[in-house]
Amino acid sequence: MKEKLLQEFERIYGGTEDVRVFFAPGRVNLIGEHTDYNGGHVFPCALTIGTYAAARKNGMNTCRFYSVNFEHLGIIAADLEELVYHKENNWANYPMGILKHLKDAGMPIDEGMDFVFFGNIPNSSGLSSSASIEVLTAFTARELFGFSMDFVEIAKLAQRAENQFIGVNCGIMDQFAIAMGKKDNAIFLDTADLSYEYAPIVLKDAKIVIACSNKKRGLGDSKYNERRSECEEALALLQTKKEISSLGALTEAEFEEIKDVIGDEVKIRRARHAVYENQRTIKAVEALKANDIETFGKLMNDSHVSLRDDYEVTGAELDTLVETAWEVPGVVGSRMTGAGFGGCTVSIVKEDCVDSFIQTVGETYKNKIGYAADFYVVDIGDGPAELL
Ligand code: GLA
Repeated sequence: MKEKLLQEFERIYGGTEDVRVFFAPGRVNLIGEHTDYNGGHVFPCALTIGTYAAARKNGMNTCRFYSVNFEHLGIIAADLEELVYHKENNWANYPMGILKHLKDAGMPIDEGMDFVFFGNIPNSSGLSSSASIEVLTAFTARELFGFSMDFVEIAKLAQRAENQFIGVNCGIMDQFAIAMGKKDNAIFLDTADLSYEYAPIVLKDAKIVIACSNKKRGLGDSKYNERRSECEEALALLQTKKEISSLGALTEAEFEEIKDVIGDEVKIRRARHAVYENQRTIKAVEALKANDIETFGKLMNDSHVSLRDDYEVTGAELDTLVETAWEVPGVVGSRMTGAGFGGCTVSIVKEDCVDSFIQTVGETYKNKIGYAADFYVVDIGDGPAELL
């Protein structure tokens, strides 16, 4: 991979002297969806697929960005002093936002850089290609300019850049999972205070299978912000009844006792998802620690039902993938993962049933939805690294 990146770099910018190559993973969330901006728990892990960057300082005042995945867009450039969001800068807005925020945070980035990116995360799959390139850019700049910033700080900065520069009001999960990834472990993160714990994912004879719906996202991001506001409005009303800082602070019983103050039926369902999903995540991690993968899988299924019925972020594509998966022998659990409205599902499938899983779910999906889904058997990998 390093060779491939260096070759591309040479072709685009000329020379490979002082060029270094870095990697940051993608992520999949096992359970705890739409809880991270509600002060709840999440349980994601980093993947061995992700984004690569070949980069070096260029002695100019300009940063240049090129992606092998978007060859047709050529080199996109921006002055270090003029890192502002422009729609026509397309994907390059992500690294630009990071550099802008690093500079604003006082990091000594005093000359431009040249970048060649390449990602092997399937396109708009919901496996966080955007958070991956964000964390990768911050890590690359840190290594090239030699400033200190730990991975939790990098995750926070990357989230800030996504919120303020890109305008997506996301939580911290994706950036945190990517920056803090650890091989064969998922991260049990409490987003209320960023305390976390690694939990080994020992699935014995089972595999993690991702099914990508290939549904184009479209309105997804605006719906995401809409869900977030609905939760905030519900919280404000609940706070008139009980002193809580987030929906994640409530148990199911506490919620049931005061939920009527929300008044609006839709917002009650949104808040109910956030509260129950958080508790489900805590229970799921307990089950996993006790080696009870069956219970873990069952909680994954419940998570999907709640995202489908209460949070309403699934849609025909994700529902077809998941509901078909539930019927296939050897499936321990299956649910949508990520923001929803398209993107992927994650399933835990017994190893000797993976082929029949892919065949059955793939066929049903194509017949019902009209186009194919893609399947990936994935491994849990480490966080960012330099390729030496
Ligand atoms: C997206 C956001 C995350 C999180 C998930 C839903 O991936 O970036 O912060 O909210 O959706 O769980």
